Amino acid sequence: MITTYLAVTLITLLLMAVYNIGILSENLYSEKTMKLYAKANIISQSASAVWDANDDRVMYLRLEDTTDRLLAGTSIRGVVTNTSYTVLYDNHRAANMTGKVFMRDVIKRAIDGEQADTVFEADNGSTLAVAVPIEFNGEVIGGVYLAENLSSVTDTIGTIKASLLVFSLLLLFVIVLISIGISYIITHPIAEFTEVARAISRGDFTKRAKISGVREMAEMGQALNFMCDELNALEEKRKNFVSDVSHELKTPMAGIKLLCDSLVQAENPDMDTIREFLNDMSEEIDRLTRIINRLLTLSRLDSGADMNLSKVDVSALCEGVVESLRKIAHEKDIELVYESSDIEARIIELDYDKIYECVYNIVVNAINYTPDGGHVKTRVKYESELCIIEVEDDGPGIPDGEKLKVFDRFYRLDDSRARDTGGTGLGLAITKEAVLLHNGTIEVTDAQTGGSVFTMKLPVTEPGKE
Ligand SMILES: Nc1ncnc2c1ncn2[C@@H]1O[C@H](COP(=O)(O)OP(=O)(O)O)[C@@H](O)[C@H]1O
Ligand SMILES: [Mg+2]
Repeated sequence: MITTYLAVTLITLLLMAVYNIGILSENLYSEKTMKLYAKANIISQSASAVWDANDDRVMYLRLEDTTDRLLAGTSIRGVVTNTSYTVLYDNHRAANMTGKVFMRDVIKRAIDGEQADTVFEADNGSTLAVAVPIEFNGEVIGGVYLAENLSSVTDTIGTIKASLLVFSLLLLFVIVLISIGISYIITHPIAEFTEVARAISRGDFTKRAKISGVREMAEMGQALNFMCDELNALEEKRKNFVSDVSHELKTPMAGIKLLCDSLVQAENPDMDTIREFLNDMSEEIDRLTRIINRLLTLSRLDSGADMNLSKVDVSALCEGVVESLRKIAHEKDIELVYESSDIEARIIELDYDKIYECVYNIVVNAINYTPDGGHVKTRVKYESELCIIEVEDDGPGIPDGEKLKVFDRFYRLDDSRARDTGGTGLGLAITKEAVLLHNGTIEVTDAQTGGSVFTMKLPVTEPGKE
């Protein structure tokens, strides 16, 4: 990343420098040239005014007068020639050419009647030369030649180049610093995230990424940490589940073991005692089977069991559950009713067996945990694309703090009583899994009578559509 930044910056800087220096030197040169032309034109005009070809000496003095005044304080060389290139005046003291022939391309062009300029390399550096014709009565009578050393211009450009270089280097340095900073801000958190990801793949969910850097990085870190939290919780749950399962299986096993040992140790047990012991053993085995069956159901649901969808009339399904439990309710003297609503029954698509088991579990619970003589009501209604199943009882209810926990695996409010009812603590866990598989929700609230209301909400999916 740093390399890319640097390359882009370098190219930009280079283009900028080349372009600016080009424009600048062009401006400086053309300004110099114009000034020199202006001076040459002044000399040409005054030469034209004092032109007196008959007396070279008078002419010389007159030319010297204007030219010296104009060129005083400059390093400009001024030469005036006639049309045969003989120098009439030269301001150069040392190599004075007066009287000699002075041939230069630019002067030739001036004598031809046009003004001309050129840049040539002299011993003391670049030199700019201009020449203009001297005219008298519309006729060219000579030429003015001015030459100026360009060292001042090249010096200026040199200085600008140098300062541009220094500026570019400084800028480059700053950019390098900034890109190192930026890449640190970006790559540092990434290195940290990688470390956490590695820890996760090793099965260590306790590592957390430091939240730092730009907002996007911080958000990514938060998401990663959140994922770790979730994984950690899941792992915790898994471990607990395994120990819960072992514990739940151990109790009936211990019971069976105890019964066996007692039988073995009993001396000459009579047939009735043996039968009683075997009966107790059979009950414990039933318990074990129940737990194992429910665990199997759960694990099927967990593995995203294949849904066996069919068109179902939920009202009829609930009524069927209620009917099948009427006998058990009657034994406890519980009034069990299915409250039919007058809205027309709808046929929705769901897994019949799974939802049947859900409703069954909830109604069985309501009967089991409601004292003798209580009431259990089941009803079905439809509300804006939701099928709502409610089971209400007037039993002891569930304290607020436990309302979520009752859906956890092996969770029982009152262990001994629940065990008496043959409860495994898995009924509601299975129910919740199955409801979730249908993209539905389940919750428990307080009933007005003091008991509890279990509410299952299933999205109504029209047959044929998902
Ligand atoms: N209608 C209810 N009224 C009071 N408590 C209930 C009711 N339904 C469930 N519970 C409580 O929730 C616990 C979990 O229920 P469940 O998962 O079906 O397990 P269990 O096998 O014990 O019935 C029960 O042990 C019971 O304490
Ligand atoms: Mg139950």
